[in-house]
Amino acid sequence: MQLLNLLVLAATTLGLQALAKEIVITVGGNTTDDAGAVFEPQTVVAEQGDVVVFNFTQGNHTATQALFASPCIPAYFVDETVNGFNSEFRNAGNFSAITTLPVVIDNPNVTIWFYDHNTCAEGGVGGINVNESSWETLDGFARNALRLNGTGYEDTLPTTTATRPTTTSTSNSTGTSENDATRVVKLGGAAVAPILALAIAFL
Ligand SMILES: *[C@@H]1O[C@H](CO)[C@@H](O)[C@H](O)[C@H]1NC(C)=O
Ligand SMILES: *[C@@H]1O[C@H](CO)[C@@H](O)[C@H](O)[C@H]1NC(C)=O
Ligand SMILES: *[C@@H]1O[C@H](CO)[C@@H](O)[C@H](O)[C@H]1NC(C)=O
Ligand SMILES: *[C@@H]1O[C@H](CO)[C@@H](O)[C@H](O)[C@H]1NC(C)=O
Ligand SMILES: *[C@@H]1O[C@H](CO)[C@@H](O)[C@H](O)[C@H]1NC(C)=O
Ligand SMILES: *[C@@H]1O[C@H](CO)[C@@H](O)[C@H](O)[C@H]1NC(C)=O
Ligand SMILES: *[C@@H]1O[C@H](CO)[C@@H](O)[C@H](O)[C@H]1NC(C)=O
Ligand SMILES: *[C@@H]1O[C@H](CO)[C@@H](O)[C@H](O)[C@H]1NC(C)=O
Repeated sequence: MQLLNLLVLAATTLGLQALAKEIVITVGGNTTDDAGAVFEPQTVVAEQGDVVVFNFTQGNHTATQALFASPCIPAYFVDETVNGFNSEFRNAGNFSAITTLPVVIDNPNVTIWFYDHNTCAEGGVGGINVNESSWETLDGFARNALRLNGTGYEDTLPTTTATRPTTTSTSNSTGTSENDATRVVKLGGAAVAPILALAIAFL
């Protein structure tokens, strides 16, 4: 009887482990011809409870959560309610200082967008659970990054990121419609002002 219980327990444990997958995104690809290659793969599909592990292997990069309409700015600068993840700068050298950032997926129905600070302006971006049938595609996100050319980030980067927790929370990256995206793209630099004001409010 005890043995049976043990077997059931073992099976249950194994079953649960099989349900929660670890999905690795390598950060450090050769970005000479394609900035998007910094993330390999650029998009992944994850279920609830899965852990997306950013594996920093080469070069100096970040994995920072953003909103669709503002690809190169930490999500929490744009929307305080989004406690997005941010690895901060990870200099992995040439496989000499490998580190990882695990991100637990709470809600697979919400797309999580992210970028690398140092290549974002050229399209160093990616996404978790991207819905390519919706308006918010990876291409659209990368286009926003190129058009905005990293706008706003340099102004908001310094002390503010250091004071934010490096979190694995993945709450809420929705709430930006294509209209928001278009508006930000059209406004260009003008959209930076409120973001900067928001950043200053953090200081
Ligand atoms: C990166 O890619 C470029 C262009 O394909 C190539 O010239 C360069 O040698 C590559 N760099 C490394 C470190 O592999
Ligand atoms: C990260 O990459 C290194 C080098 O390729 C590899 O040895 C390591 O297993 C990777 N880590 C994970 C969590 O996949
Ligand atoms: C990483 O890149 C950032 C921004 O380009 C830079 O400020 C920082 O000094 C770099 N870190 C290292 C260790 O080179
Ligand atoms: C990384 O190290 C390998 C082996 O030492 C070398 O062949 C390669 O050129 C290095 N890459 C970079 C980007 O320094
Ligand atoms: C995601 O959507 C599916 C289908 O609508 C639903 O069954 C599920 O509960 C949702 N998951 C979460 C975490 O909201
Ligand atoms: C993807 O987006 C399309 C168009 O908005 C929508 O009909 C569909 O339900 C979405 N799929 C998922 C899995 O959310
Ligand atoms: C993008 O930003 C960089 C650095 O701020 C600048 O050197 C470059 O000229 C900009 N490119 C465009 C197309 O505006
Ligand atoms: C997501 O954002 C919406 C609108 O800003 C808010 O009503 C909702 O509570 C947020 N959900 C989470 C899980 O933070």
